[in-house]
Amino acid sequence: MTHLVEPTRQGVLHYEPTTAAIERRAPAERRLRDVQAIFADRLACQSLLTTNPLIYRVTQVEDHNGEGDIHYGIGMLMPGKVGREYFMTKGHIHAWRPAAEVYIGLRGRGMMLLEDERTGECLAVELTANSTVYVPGYTAHRTVNVGDEPLVYWGVLSSAAGHDYGAVAERNFRLVVVEKDGQPVVMERVDFLAELQGAQA
Ligand SMILES: [Fe+2]
Repeated sequence: MTHLVEPTRQGVLHYEPTTAAIERRAPAERRLRDVQAIFADRLACQSLLTTNPLIYRVTQVEDHNGEGDIHYGIGMLMPGKVGREYFMTKGHIHAWRPAAEVYIGLRGRGMMLLEDERTGECLAVELTANSTVYVPGYTAHRTVNVGDEPLVYWGVLSSAAGHDYGAVAERNFRLVVVEKDGQPVVMERVDFLAELQGAQA
């Protein structure tokens, strides 16, 4: 005898790893106009705004909100650059600061910028297909696509974590990931801004 039940009631959802779509879920899209303030090169940003490309798409599953429950979401970050700076997410820190998160790479080649709010320590780590990144609590995190195909990944975290975008938007991240001689390099933002000013003077 077969018992057919609504899949989501059993916690089953199907997703598409190449497009980051989840069945019956509406993705949120961020285009360059939505996130332009995060990029350092204002001139390059202005010229790209004429086409206002898609930067990333996120689909969240936040069905369960009781004590001990989990939220998760899939992100697809497009390949591309604003000037020399690779496409990236706005980044955030969790509203409940101790909440950690695990990122699970499905497709593409990327990096994550991690910045500890308490110590100021900054780190850039790889996020690629078939790798995971553990983001500890109190740590702002941003995803960067340094490859030439979409970067697709899951994020899984406590349902109590919440997202604080404002704290990160005020100061941006201290590190940037930029292209140099065809390769991604990690730099201090102040040094990159000085290079830009020199190049545009
Ligand atoms: Fe997060």
